[in-house]
Amino acid sequence: MTQHLATPADAPTTGTHTGWWRDAVIYQVYPRSFADGDGDSMGDLRGIRSRLPYLKELGVDAVWLSPFYASPQADAGYDVADYRAIDPMFGTLHDADAVIREAHELGLRIIVDLVPNHSSDQHEWFQRALREGPGSPLRERYHFRPGKGANGELPPNDWESIFGGPAWTRTENPDGTPGEWYLHLFAPEQPDFNWEHPAVRDEFRSILRFWLDMGVDGFRVDVAHGLVKAAGLPDIGSHDQLKLLGNDVMPFFDQDGVHEIYRSWRNVLSEYDGERVLVAEAWTPTVERTANYVRPDEMHQAFNFQYLGTHWDAAELRGVIDASLAAMRPVGAPTTWVLSNHDVTRHATRFANPPGLGTQLRTPGDRELGLRRARAATLLMLALPGSAYVYQGEELGLPDVTDLPDEVRQDPSFFRATGQDGFRDGCRVPIPWTAEGSSYGFGTGGSWLPQPATWGALSVEAQTGDPTSTLELYRSALAVRRERPELGAGESVEWLDAPEGVLAFRRDGFVCVANTTGRAISVPLPGRLLLSNEEVRIVDDEAEVPADTTAWWAV
Ligand code: GLC
Repeated sequence: MTQHLATPADAPTTGTHTGWWRDAVIYQVYPRSFADGDGDSMGDLRGIRSRLPYLKELGVDAVWLSPFYASPQADAGYDVADYRAIDPMFGTLHDADAVIREAHELGLRIIVDLVPNHSSDQHEWFQRALREGPGSPLRERYHFRPGKGANGELPPNDWESIFGGPAWTRTENPDGTPGEWYLHLFAPEQPDFNWEHPAVRDEFRSILRFWLDMGVDGFRVDVAHGLVKAAGLPDIGSHDQLKLLGNDVMPFFDQDGVHEIYRSWRNVLSEYDGERVLVAEAWTPTVERTANYVRPDEMHQAFNFQYLGTHWDAAELRGVIDASLAAMRPVGAPTTWVLSNHDVTRHATRFANPPGLGTQLRTPGDRELGLRRARAATLLMLALPGSAYVYQGEELGLPDVTDLPDEVRQDPSFFRATGQDGFRDGCRVPIPWTAEGSSYGFGTGGSWLPQPATWGALSVEAQTGDPTSTLELYRSALAVRRERPELGAGESVEWLDAPEGVLAFRRDGFVCVANTTGRAISVPLPGRLLLSNEEVRIVDDEAEVPADTTAWWAV
């Protein structure tokens, strides 16, 4: 494998701190579903490599790749069997090297996914722990416990898996008798590591170095809030734990002990040049608690899930925007904004449905309305100070696929029905690249989840060059953002008076108006119109902003 410069081509020389990540637009690639380079119906690194120029042209700054490591795929790669190997389904280390190198040549940064809360049950440590039986030192690297009850037939505590059912699975001893239980906050194939164990801590620092040496620009840290569990693994005492998630500090989430781990990781990253970053996937009850993950000596960014969960409603949006900016200011971290990812219903479908249904939906709703709001929401997001995340396919206005037949589903939560709704497959359907042809250009061998027959019209090919298309709206928005770095810069917005249901704010030389109501509104003409998702009419010194429209003005 060739060694290469870790910094992208247009990045400044080593030693200069640009803080590139503070206002970066980061595009999430879900490797299974982005592009298939070898015709096996599953996306892969070769496919990603071939589409890097598309991402460059789209105008994003960085690419976050969901896991591509060796994995039995019990949770689509979030069950890692070997953190230093690529799953053959996705390619080889040579392919990963080529993706990183060619991305850098194009001036794109690469962020990879790190999954430290749990491994796959096929990980060598876990397999040895099972084989060696109770008392094996390898068991201390996970959470093995004897069961409760006369014969150990009850789980060690009352914790429930996020995917439904108990968070414990009983093992069988090497002699075939029922044995200890092990903890898995997610699927049984995803045993949780014991982060009190020094070998676990050492191993992950070493894994960080492995990928930093490969040249990656950072890590998105999966379940960053989960690594440390409350001492003694206490019962929760509630039978409705999924409702508590995200609203309360749980004994397995958001424990203060996690922060020491991220401080040690930050030290590892600091040894490398090129401003490498850590991004927390931390679902916490409040933005204030999320801010703890991005204190100056910890991670660089954290996903803003409060924003993701906000409805298309001016008052609600303003509340979350203010709270997010206020929470990040004291720690000096940029706020992030995100509308979609591989775990939630795409925002074009969320906004097509009535509010209050959560982020896992099964109904398509009013598609036209949803798309229109989604486009407006994107322009609002890209006008806010901080870094923004774009999930593959949202630039095509893709809806969630809400009618996938049960037999094609792969999301483990679908099969553990009492857990979260299990509709994550609907946002993971492969991307349409061409208007016609096998799997609309995703690959030559079909696609692992069926694409709706209407998706040819949503393909990259069909939308390219059409000024009314969602793809061209994203391209234009990202081009304006590049020309005007002030859009992502700073840490505040100046709110302007606006009618009910309308958000209006000023930033350096720039005004954004977002109309979340279902009717057109008029505002005093702020300046020169830069971009809007629907046509804005100018009458004398007033601008008429249509329903569900965001407009950008230079002032
Ligand atoms: C994160 C991932 C999700 C995965 C879970 C367990 O939430 O985003 O896809 O199922 O962690 O690793």
